[in-house]
Amino acid sequence: MRSFMGRDILSLKDFERNEFFHVLSVAEYMEPIARKRRNVDMLAEKTMVTAFYQPSTRTRLAHEAAMHRLGGHVTGFSDAKMTRAGDWYQESIKDTVKMLEFYGDVIVMRHFQQGAPHEAAKWASIPIINGGDGWGEHPTQILTDLYTVYREKGRLDGLRWLAVGDMRMRTMHSLAYALTQFDCPVTFVSPPNMSLTDEMKAELKQYSLDYQEVEHVEQAIADADVILVEPVVQPDYTKARDERKEGGVGMTPSNYQITRDLLFNKAKSDAILLHSLPRMDEIPPDVDITKWSRYWQEAFNGVVMRMALLGLVLGAME
Ligand code: NCD
Repeated sequence: MRSFMGRDILSLKDFERNEFFHVLSVAEYMEPIARKRRNVDMLAEKTMVTAFYQPSTRTRLAHEAAMHRLGGHVTGFSDAKMTRAGDWYQESIKDTVKMLEFYGDVIVMRHFQQGAPHEAAKWASIPIINGGDGWGEHPTQILTDLYTVYREKGRLDGLRWLAVGDMRMRTMHSLAYALTQFDCPVTFVSPPNMSLTDEMKAELKQYSLDYQEVEHVEQAIADADVILVEPVVQPDYTKARDERKEGGVGMTPSNYQITRDLLFNKAKSDAILLHSLPRMDEIPPDVDITKWSRYWQEAFNGVVMRMALLGLVLGAME
């Protein structure tokens, strides 16, 4: 297996099956540290730089929390508008990264342009972690989801997935790539104008992903062991910031909604429901208190997974 030390985490397309299992086992090792809420000194000599060109609650703060749990240091920006990259100068990724690489030992980047973290990785001498790039990918989120499934179900192979939402989403791309490495058939449900691109479909076929597409969640929910939901009512991920217009948000059509009724009447009794959040009305709040919901566990696991990734790329874990 390739070493994780010094490695960029840009895409799950690069990930091999045994690497997924390795990351999961490192996360299991990290979990008790997060659970006890006791910070250790594993990364005491390391600093993480956050470079967030797009809003974030979970991805940035979970990485920061992970760094704190491991005794490391944190610097960076959460609003590029207050840097030269987001003002009149529009400083390039190259010039920005050529600075940031001396401010710390790993850079976590979220950007509205697909491929921006890859561009950063071309110039940086330190690892780059992709915290979401435009419609591109969101590898650390899907690793968090896989870890959640692994902890809740005790396995990954042999589980059937239902993925509901906008298939242009970066999470969906990372999910599709990840599932190619497991015995996990998946059904995608999305509005027609938000379905997988032909290019993506061709790629998934090449990787022998066992997938199908249906129009309504009702057609697929009964067989699903894992239900992963994303919004279909959402901002434009290719913009630095997309303001919601007054009254400009429609309700999520029932085709893409997971309601309490649907779960009670159709879902497997031991299925689990994931959402990386934020949500609109695709999962109504009354679903939170059902046996299916696992998104709060996912939130905790988000810190654990980032601890694993930071420990690995910074060379504190083999
Ligand atoms: C996603 C993002 O911003 O890419 N959320 C997240 O990182 N927790 C958005 C989403 O998955 O809906």
